[in-house]
This record gives sequence, C-alpha cells and structure tokens, in this order.
Amino acid sequence: MSDPTGDPDNPSRDVVWDSGVMPRESRERLLGQRGGTVWMTGVSGSGKSTVAAVLERRLVEEGRLAYRLDGDNLRHGLNADLGFSAEDRTENIRRAGEVCRLLADTGAIVLATFISPFRKDRAACRAVHEQAGIPFFEVHVHCPLDVAESRDPKGLYKKARSGGIAHFTGIGQQYEPPTAADLELDTAMLAVDEAAEALLAFLRLRLI
Ligand code: ADX
Repeated sequence: MSDPTGDPDNPSRDVVWDSGVMPRESRERLLGQRGGTVWMTGVSGSGKSTVAAVLERRLVEEGRLAYRLDGDNLRHGLNADLGFSAEDRTENIRRAGEVCRLLADTGAIVLATFISPFRKDRAACRAVHEQAGIPFFEVHVHCPLDVAESRDPKGLYKKARSGGIAHFTGIGQQYEPPTAADLELDTAMLAVDEAAEALLAFLRLRLI
C-alpha cells in the first residue's frame, strides 16, 4: 500500500506499507482465536463501558486475549488534545479506529467503547478494518435517553442541562443511531450480566 489516500497533497504519499514477515494468522493460531473489533456505540450512560468491563473479564477468565479501549481513557492520553466539537469527535474516532485495527491485528478481541455519535465516522472505522481483512462488529448499546439521564453516573447530564457542558451528546449535539447494527443491546431491558452474556454468545459464533 503506497499513498493510502490517493491525494497528491498527502504528506505520506511517499511512504510505503511494510507488511513484515509474520501474518496475523500466526498470532491467531498462537492465541486460539480470531482478532477483531467489537465497536460499542451509544450515548453516555447507556452502559457501554460497564458491559464491556464485564465481558472483558469473562473473556480473559476463559483464556482469551481481550482488551477494552475506552473513550474516556483514550482522552486522557492519545486524544487528550481533542474536545467535543463535531470535528474533534471525528478525529477522536478516526484515531480510535486505527488503534483498534492495530490491536485486533495482534489477534486480540478489542472492545471499543466510544459514543461515536456520527454514522460516517463509524462507517470509516469499519472500512479501515475491512481493508485490512479484520472482523468489525458494530454493537448498539442503547436505552431511552431519559433512562441514561436518570443513571447519570458522572453527573454530566445534570451539568449539561444547567448549561455547564456545550455539545453534550443527546442535549446539545445529535446522536445518530446505527441503522444496521450487527447487534442491538437494550440496557433498559437487560441487566449488565445479561447484556455481556448476549455479546459473548454473539462472539462465540464469530471469533472464538
Ligand atoms: S465521542 O463522542 O468522541 O465518541 P468519547 O466516547 O470519546 O466521545 O467520550 C465520551 C465521554 O466523555 C463521556 O463518557 C463523558 O464522560 C465525557 N464527556 C465530556 N464532555 C462530553 C460531551 N460534550 N458529550 C459527550 N460526552 C462528554
């Protein structure tokens, strides 16, 4: 792969992809699983991180290499320079998608938990995976907004309602729900353990 964008102004146009000598399949054989990204999208308070944490523990306890990549955490380091404007969210998700692709290429099961409010950004993450031949599953973790708001684990809805947070998803900025998610998890109906089990059952048919 050279000039990944096809753009003559791209500063990386003279950079050539180096494939190395070890195919992903060798690592996957070592681990006894397929690598892939489980992209969990949903509004703040929908339960993405909570469900992913339980699932990560379940997978690791049964001998799988799983790793949770969380929006709040990535914003403490790699994405600490980004805010919540539409442009910054797009860049946040672009970087997160690239990190997922790299981690999944190691053979790991990546549980990515990002609000990722825009369809086009999620589609771009899927495309990056598809180009690399890496499985990508979009999971919509949802509940009615008033349920997420009543949970308000970080007090952010309250702050946003009182005008203290601009562009808060669901209040000052839009969330575009998936139109064709690979899996829907309704956390108003399912307990955390039940949602994690449903996702585990889904993965058993696809990666493990
Ligand atoms: S994303 O929209 O760019 O995908 P991301 O998942 O990385 O967002 O980060 C969301 C987290 O940032 C939320 O869980 C919440 O704790 C915090 N946060 C701070 N400000 C906002 C905001 N304006 N909108 C949504 N979440 C916010």
